[in-house]
Amino acid sequence: MRADAFTPADAAAVSALIARALRESNAADYPPEEIERLVLLHTPERVREMFAEGPGLVIREDGGVTGAARLTPSREKPGEWWLRTVFVYPERQGCGIGRALVERLEASAREKGAKTLRLGASKTAHGFYRRLGYRDMGPECDADGLFPMEKVLA
Ligand SMILES: CC(C)(COP(=O)(O)OP(=O)(O)OC[C@H]1O[C@@H](n2cnc3c(N)ncnc32)[C@H](O)[C@@H]1OP(=O)(O)O)[C@@H](O)C(=O)NCCC(=O)NCCS
Repeated sequence: MRADAFTPADAAAVSALIARALRESNAADYPPEEIERLVLLHTPERVREMFAEGPGLVIREDGGVTGAARLTPSREKPGEWWLRTVFVYPERQGCGIGRALVERLEASAREKGAKTLRLGASKTAHGFYRRLGYRDMGPECDADGLFPMEKVLA
């Protein structure tokens, strides 16, 4: 497993990875129309734009992209950063790739002076983030079906 900084040349592979994960993993927790809406929001062009908003990482295995995630700074609160777009290829889930992505981006965020990391967890990933030390900021998911969570970085 190799972690590299995202470059625009990764956009098509990351877009395909996200579509696969949405249709095979998240489909258990969200209706098909919501899944297809999200797939359309992650075209290669949109992925390129999203990953230009802050540092991004890809995991490569045997030359292919099997994981991706990114960080963005909060516009409102200095010291607060957001963890976004964490996806692992379905066949490679459960092998530590998600943890590797999040821990590397937590380290990057600390280097940039982040005190807190926030995220909106999918129903699918809620237990994963709890396992990695994120806490719920409320009892329910928001209108987008995501659970607001945060972690104070040591
Ligand atoms: C959620 C996701 C990113 C996790 O990635 P992963 O590579 O499968 O996770 P890892 O193998 O690194 O797991 C890390 C730890 O979390 C635990 N874990 C993983 N998924 C879990 C879940 N759904 N519930 C509880 N614990 C979970 C693992 O057991 C592991 O524990 P350990 O390291 O203490 O042994 C991946 O399953 C995925 O892409 N899901 C679909 C897309 C998605 O919902 N992304 C999040 C958008 S907010």
